Amino acid sequence: MTLKVLWKKIVNKMGYLLYPLYDLFHVETAIPKPSMRIYIGGGSYVAIGLEFMNYFINIGGLKSNHKVLDMGCGIGRMALPLTGYLSKEGEYFGFDIVPKGIEWCKKNINSKFPNFHFELLDIFNKFYNPKGKLSGASFAFPYPDNFFDFAYATSLFTHLMPDDAVNYLREAHRVLKPGGVLFSTWLLFEDKNKVPSKFKMTTEVECFGYKCLIKDFRKPEALIAFDHRFISDYSDKLNLQIRKVYSGSWDGKKEYLSCQDVVIFSKK
Ligand SMILES: C[S@@+](CC[C@H](N)C(=O)[O-])C[C@H]1O[C@@H](n2cnc3c(N)ncnc32)[C@H](O)[C@@H]1O
Repeated sequence: MTLKVLWKKIVNKMGYLLYPLYDLFHVETAIPKPSMRIYIGGGSYVAIGLEFMNYFINIGGLKSNHKVLDMGCGIGRMALPLTGYLSKEGEYFGFDIVPKGIEWCKKNINSKFPNFHFELLDIFNKFYNPKGKLSGASFAFPYPDNFFDFAYATSLFTHLMPDDAVNYLREAHRVLKPGGVLFSTWLLFEDKNKVPSKFKMTTEVECFGYKCLIKDFRKPEALIAFDHRFISDYSDKLNLQIRKVYSGSWDGKKEYLSCQDVVIFSKK
């Protein structure tokens, strides 16, 4: 047994506590190394992926033979567990704007699961892709109309400017089949004064007549919360029906599903 194999066994037993040492010793892992996934936020990569797959299936109605769209797929946190759920008849398409995540997904997921496709798009986001050439507010998703049964966006609308968010909702509607589902997460507030101060979201920006709260005006996409009325009004305008809203724990609610608020739409 080489030292590297021995080390890997020890680290596997110790779990997440020793994760930073993976990087130090260049040990290959079945999931992206911590330094690779720093941009998608904290928490357990595996547990959060499984948590959301459970929601997609049990409250979103995802079926194993569905055509699935993952908007802002990051570094495969949601895609990886789906490789064990989608059948050969099912198909997955994920896109994102950060090269290293898409490269990892192509190398580690698409190579083993050819029905999982990943695409890098050069869309501007001041926080994630400040040199991006395309505008999220006018960008057309590279998929045909009425193509997907199920689309989702986890922790994406919390990083999109309002005009990008509206376009992404419009595009999600276009590429979904009639009756298709969009599962999305947001930070939605009813009263801006009740947003917990720990988020430091003190700057207000106007969003089509509604208020948005941002943390950092130099990089507003770092974290954005929307007035909840924005969702209900825009879903009507965009022909999306709100099927269900589940509150998140982020703003201190006692009853919640996950950390962020979950909004499940379907295409009218
Ligand atoms: C917090 S991460 C969440 C990643 C993934 N959805 C997950 O839950 O693991 C936010 C992701 O949104 C992506 N993103 C930001 N703006 C985007 C845009 N305009 N189009 C597509 N992806 C975008 C970022 O690159 C990043 O991967």
